[in-house]
Amino acid sequence: MAFKKSNFAAATALFAIGAKAVNNGLALTPQMGWDNWNALGCDVSEDLLVETADLIVNYGLKDLGYKYVILDDCWSAGRNASNNNTLIVDTEKFPRGMKAVADDIHDLGLLFGMYSDAGRYTCGMYEGSLGYETEDANFFADVGIDYLKYDNCYNEGYAGNQQISSARYRTMGNALNATGRPILYSLCNWGEDYPWNWGSTIANSWRISGDIFDNWDEYDARCPCEGPDAWNCELPGFHCSVTNIFSKVAFIVSKAQPGSWNDLDMLEVGRGAMNDAEYVAHFSMWSAVKSPLIMGNDIRIIKPQDLSILSNAAVIAVNQDPLGQSAARRWLYQTNTTDVDENGKAEIQMWSGNLKSTISADYNDYVVLLVNGNNNATVMNATLEDIFVDSGPKGTAPQVQMSWEVRDLWADRMSNETAAAIINTPTKSGNATTGYNATTIGQGRYNATTTSYADGLMANSSLLLGSVVTTVQPSGTIIANVDRHGVAMFRLRAIPTAVRKRDEL
Ligand code: GAL
Repeated sequence: MAFKKSNFAAATALFAIGAKAVNNGLALTPQMGWDNWNALGCDVSEDLLVETADLIVNYGLKDLGYKYVILDDCWSAGRNASNNNTLIVDTEKFPRGMKAVADDIHDLGLLFGMYSDAGRYTCGMYEGSLGYETEDANFFADVGIDYLKYDNCYNEGYAGNQQISSARYRTMGNALNATGRPILYSLCNWGEDYPWNWGSTIANSWRISGDIFDNWDEYDARCPCEGPDAWNCELPGFHCSVTNIFSKVAFIVSKAQPGSWNDLDMLEVGRGAMNDAEYVAHFSMWSAVKSPLIMGNDIRIIKPQDLSILSNAAVIAVNQDPLGQSAARRWLYQTNTTDVDENGKAEIQMWSGNLKSTISADYNDYVVLLVNGNNNATVMNATLEDIFVDSGPKGTAPQVQMSWEVRDLWADRMSNETAAAIINTPTKSGNATTGYNATTIGQGRYNATTTSYADGLMANSSLLLGSVVTTVQPSGTIIANVDRHGVAMFRLRAIPTAVRKRDEL
């Protein structure tokens, strides 16, 4: 089927007269949820979605903010030529039809996402939406979806520059808007044609890389771009490691803003091939740069330590911070060759960024992330001069002359025992309202359904601020012993007595 030239022309015309921002009021903080692809690929069914949705509620994940349950590729069975070419749902996988699934998910207080592709076929070779944007947007709105992930396979060559790619994606954006239903629009063109330049005019997020793989730093030729020019990647590929993708975002952190985000791809936490320190690091890194946090594990077999990572509200609060600013990389050093890991890598890096102030009228809180890619635990240093370089180079930032609380955002991580108790408590009522709700016995777990992260931060909720482990004095240095392939993640808060007014400095 050919791409409808009329749609393309209309989209290009819109581009020429100046495109409007997506302006759908969604994703003012990065979207959170779950998608089946990483763990289950095409093995999708109504039971999978409904069971997972139930567990997301019962394990307290919904109340931490994981709202979107997203069905990825492989759900359709062609188009109905005698009914306006409407997509046909595979009734073997979804015997009650898709609307029933959407209703079940909505009844649990969750939101429903689906997947299509701006091409002839999806990546799994099911029907794509190119040329059928209006028909498919209407179908999705009729089903009652709240989120569309829109992929890039089989795009028939309508790519190669920003105008062509953006026009192709804009056509679906316009069709979604025309339905009148608020639908979060998540672009998945793997960073091709610089979507961070135009994505915010169309959508709520854009993937910045090829597909993630459950791996810390192994090179794979199918994800070819690494190193200093990783951002300029003409072959996004797949099998991209966590550190590969994290390198790519370093160059485009300023593109993240409320309503539109750099998407580093779905989480691998709990998939099984990385260790606990690596999953802690992965979750922290994605949170600090304001990536959407879309769980990619099979929640039906979640392990306690992974539930505990995904439940760390103090880290999620960084991701959901009301300022919506990404942390930025301040330095990266290739370390000496005696500490390389099995993949020949050894590098350490420090990131920091603004968080909304929870204490001082004058100065923001700050997040600091130390990432250790060495083969052994490493003592890492972060100077206030480097942390606050955006407010003044070479130590001239006023914050360098202040004292700060250093709050460890992993200090209060839920114990494995508590996580195991939550997982092992019989819950399978199939109905969350009568099932066990982890938030009631999770010993003070944060509940973002009742108190948004923004409100909780302003109220100084101890569940969101981590624990003070030390203070750092003017011109001082934060020192942390960081696990192999792990992170230290801190929230800095100005110490009130040390806060002086700007004009006194
Ligand atoms: C890829 C996409 C993945 C997944 C897959 C489905 O292109 O990046 O996240 O959606 O297609 O086939």
